[in-house]
Amino acid sequence: MARLNLLEETRYEKLPVSVYGNQQEASLAVAGRIATLIRDKQSKGEQAVLGLATGVTPIKVYAELVRLHKEEGLSFKNVTTFNLDEYFPMKPDAAQSYVTFMYENLFSHIDIDKANVHIPDGTLDKDEVAAFCLEYERQIEELGGLDFQLLGIGRTGHIGFNEPGSAPNSGTRLVTLDDLTRSDAARDFGGKANVPTKAITMGIGTIFKAREIILMAWSAKKAPIVKKAVEGEISGEVPATYLQLSDNVEFVLDEDAASELTRFDTPWLVKDCSWDDNILKKKAVIWLADTIGKPVLKLTEEDYNNHGMAQLAVEQGPVYNINIDIFNQIQHTITGWPGGKPDADDSQRPERALPAKKRSIIFSPHPDDDVISMGGTFIRLVDQGHDVHVAYQTSGNTAVWDDDVLRYMEFAIDFTNSIGEDSGHLAKLYEEMRAFFPQKQPNQIDTREIRNVKGFIRKTEAISGARYAGLPDSNIHFMALPFYETGKTKKNTVGEEDIQLTIDLLQKIKPQQIFAAGDFADPNGTHLVCFNIILAALARLKETEEWVKDCWLWMYRGAWHEFPTHEIEMAVPLSPQEVIRKRNAIFKHQSQKDRPVFPGDDAREFWVRAEDRTSETAKKYDQLGLAEYEAIEAFVRYRF
Ligand code: F6R
Repeated sequence: MARLNLLEETRYEKLPVSVYGNQQEASLAVAGRIATLIRDKQSKGEQAVLGLATGVTPIKVYAELVRLHKEEGLSFKNVTTFNLDEYFPMKPDAAQSYVTFMYENLFSHIDIDKANVHIPDGTLDKDEVAAFCLEYERQIEELGGLDFQLLGIGRTGHIGFNEPGSAPNSGTRLVTLDDLTRSDAARDFGGKANVPTKAITMGIGTIFKAREIILMAWSAKKAPIVKKAVEGEISGEVPATYLQLSDNVEFVLDEDAASELTRFDTPWLVKDCSWDDNILKKKAVIWLADTIGKPVLKLTEEDYNNHGMAQLAVEQGPVYNINIDIFNQIQHTITGWPGGKPDADDSQRPERALPAKKRSIIFSPHPDDDVISMGGTFIRLVDQGHDVHVAYQTSGNTAVWDDDVLRYMEFAIDFTNSIGEDSGHLAKLYEEMRAFFPQKQPNQIDTREIRNVKGFIRKTEAISGARYAGLPDSNIHFMALPFYETGKTKKNTVGEEDIQLTIDLLQKIKPQQIFAAGDFADPNGTHLVCFNIILAALARLKETEEWVKDCWLWMYRGAWHEFPTHEIEMAVPLSPQEVIRKRNAIFKHQSQKDRPVFPGDDAREFWVRAEDRTSETAKKYDQLGLAEYEAIEAFVRYRF
């Protein structure tokens, strides 16, 4: 059983949880604890035995350990490590192997004796695996067990590769990976089909015996599974819940990963809240309406009292007044005039009435985010006469199928021939491409010509989509930001040129309104990088340019998820006809249709996701007692 918890605020949490402002701070703290353990052991002349994890989660911990070694003399001479897992089969020198990962991120940069490094062997014959696993366990035992085990958590709730169904007493063994885990790994392998179906992993029983276990998780993407692991019932369906039985475990989270825990998500259930915070009040009332399935205006005193909101009712009641206040606030988010309604009182409207015709720019991280995420609003802005521009921030050239390239090359050759020109050079390039594709390795970078063709394919689709929405060609901008142009899923860090190109475009248009993708669920994703580039550009422009003071920045979200209702500041309803127009604009992106190269873990096509998302928002508004619309696109203002 985990340590006794004496706090009411964390009463739903079945194991100790520490929350840090961001993953950097949290990683430094965890690295510091590992360093202390190593030094303690050193002072006693003992080995420190560490269980280590791979994945994106521990990268900053390893970076800090490397820094401590290089700058502060931390030695790893007395350290022995056992990695949690390895794909099976897997060659150690493959880019995706955990051997490669561990050497790149840690072992190559520290003074550890390589004989003390243990990583499950992905090169074994299947009939050698069982003996290898027994020996792995024996080696850990022989050294007196693990002093420390570092863990991440998969979205299936796996620790190591102990997928749902794993037993609490499981040892090191060969396992089959869950479908969701394979989808999550698809990017590293250049497609899910290339992800091995099996892995060798330490068992839950192996992990459990460690004298200190730290599980780390970052980003909102992990928030739902973290909630289950911390607050849910112990179950083989979420293997991480077994950690609730340990005396030696701690979860280390950033604020986003912790955001669905009761104390952060619905704090009124576990503590007194300051109800002057309007967002919290709005969130609580919407939550109450949602939870008991009533529209806002029908919530009663009793409903408030029975659902942890008595304090709000006492402080700001009668509850009917609270209901009306919140209802009005939601009502005022709805507008059919996303560029502001001319000649109307705008004191209760999301956008300013003036200037009546605005210069608006829609930044689209990939060439289709504009229409997928806010196609209806895009069309409305154009229909209502605003000077709308769209800027495609990246070329999106990694996300086109290889055979599409051949198709377009064949077209180019035929056309060149048809006008009597010499297609010899084109034909030679085409033959090179044909020879390249069959021997292309997963995630291998395409040749420059192929990357160009892929980029051009997306460019023509984007032009077609934006034209369909009603834009003149002069208002369609392709930025091809350099940070993206690596040809790989891993991008470069943002540079001066990315920011300067953005400054130049903004300075040319001087918009009163900017729309930008505000998805923060994926901390390393292109959308967040693109958003931060816009912010950096605006921060610099703000210092010298007057127009920036009158420029509002609206965030939209992608095909993946929507803003929670209480955060929405502008809700643009779409008629059934507008939904169809938006769908047609999305259809222009043929290379992304049916089955895109990067579908994420959602089997639905982009246009279906977009429609489901906007009709869900409309349904939520309807359930809260507002008008019933076909679909709603949602926006949140970012004040910079
Ligand atoms: C890695 C491992 C996995 C990961 C988990 C989270 O050795 O065993 O359990 O910790 O899949 O992965 P990331 O950190 O990439 O989100």
